Amino acid sequence: MSEVLVVEGGHPLKGTITVRGAKNFVSKAMVAALLGETPSLLKNVPSIKDVQVVSDLLGLHGVAVKYDAEAGTISLDPSDVVNCGATEIDAHAGQSRIPILMCGPLLHRLGEAFIPDLGGCAIGDRPIDFHLEILRQMGATVEKTEHGIHLQAKKRLQGTKIELPYPSVGATEQLLLSAVEAEGITELSNAAVEPEIMDLIAVLQKMGAIISVDTDRVIRIEGVEKLHGYVHNSLADRIEAASWASAALATGGDVTVKGATQQEMMTFLNIYRKVGGEFEILEDGIRFWHPGGDTLHGIVMETDVHPGFMTDWQQPLVVALTQANGLSIVHETVYENRFGFTDALRQMGAHIQVYRECLGGRKCRFGQRNFRHSAVISGPTPLRAADITVPDLRGGFSHLIAALAAEGRSTVRGIKLIDRGYENFREKLIALGAHFEELEEEEASLAA
Ligand code: EPZ
Repeated sequence: MSEVLVVEGGHPLKGTITVRGAKNFVSKAMVAALLGETPSLLKNVPSIKDVQVVSDLLGLHGVAVKYDAEAGTISLDPSDVVNCGATEIDAHAGQSRIPILMCGPLLHRLGEAFIPDLGGCAIGDRPIDFHLEILRQMGATVEKTEHGIHLQAKKRLQGTKIELPYPSVGATEQLLLSAVEAEGITELSNAAVEPEIMDLIAVLQKMGAIISVDTDRVIRIEGVEKLHGYVHNSLADRIEAASWASAALATGGDVTVKGATQQEMMTFLNIYRKVGGEFEILEDGIRFWHPGGDTLHGIVMETDVHPGFMTDWQQPLVVALTQANGLSIVHETVYENRFGFTDALRQMGAHIQVYRECLGGRKCRFGQRNFRHSAVISGPTPLRAADITVPDLRGGFSHLIAALAAEGRSTVRGIKLIDRGYENFREKLIALGAHFEELEEEEASLAA
């Protein structure tokens, strides 16, 4: 995989691409397979780096993983789950946030778990205090060591009653994966209810779990003694679909995203329409396009947990907003530090200012603190080519969109990060008529 793309911008993206399963569901469903006494089969699995990382981590714990990239199936046989040495797992430190979710299943299977320093995108502090508190309350001991965290459970995890300080996706998944085989009933208040979490609940129910979800964000789990394997088709990646939709808008293009589904994207579709983008729901996907002319307009919006506007939809859309008439205000309420990617957009000519205040809506938990979490975008501004380095997964895809929209040749470095969550994005760009060349870092330095 190339490290650098030299993008000749200014050409509208036009054509059809396909998205497969959601990165942020598939990795969790793979971990759930650890809980079964028989093998599991997951379908619609995309060929992305995160799937590889989680396969390697499960492999280290004795799970036999077989991935067929073309068919998009992954089989997971957890018959021989074993403890993995701290040194082996430490080799994976910093690659992913998934190891924290393996704790509950490993405590059930083996009575202990070790997790290395976590990775994931640098978009805020990303603490794991909620996760550790859940595991402690369920009876695990947690010991921080030099290289990571060692957890032990001398007996079966115990059901408990917990209220999350914030509806964290990961902490909700932690609780689900830990409570399904715990003794007694567990109740989680202020839970996250993202579609990816609902699909994880569907998987766990297929495995034999008893879980109910109340309308007021309360999840109730009755622990069972045994679970078996599952067969499941992953829901579509609504983040990837929205990213291509925003790319269509920013470049004045017309992109059909096969596999995209309306239900999980309703909030995105409403904002897309308000900005002036057009879409059509098809039988097997969604077509997104720019209606032509100077027709996009600014909006005021904020990110939120589901059913709000996803934080991961924000960065690609901000690039499109640089091409909209008037002011847009985007208030980021999920992560405290998710506007770092706008530095590169400013370098490319965008007018974006970031503020510490909660602008445009309700006060959020970052309000009185020192985080630049509101952005004001003034458009439209033509974007000019630049030499940029991608900062994180979603910010990185936004840089790519900006380069595709800008006049001239941009150099986008560090694009391997995008392989973490966007399947075959180079091939998809070609299918959409993008003009670019792939280089390795050394070649790009020589060419500079
Ligand atoms: C998941 O991260 C996703 N990652 C993120 O996608 C996504 O942005 C996020 O959910 C929100 O939808 C995966 O699924 C692998 P959180 P997660 O726990 O679970 C705070 C992408 O690009 N918090 O809901 O880590 C936290 O700091 C990625 O695909 C605590 O304070 O997110 C954040 O401000 C990026 N303590 C907020 O909660 C904790 O123990 C929401 O985080 C846990 C979280």
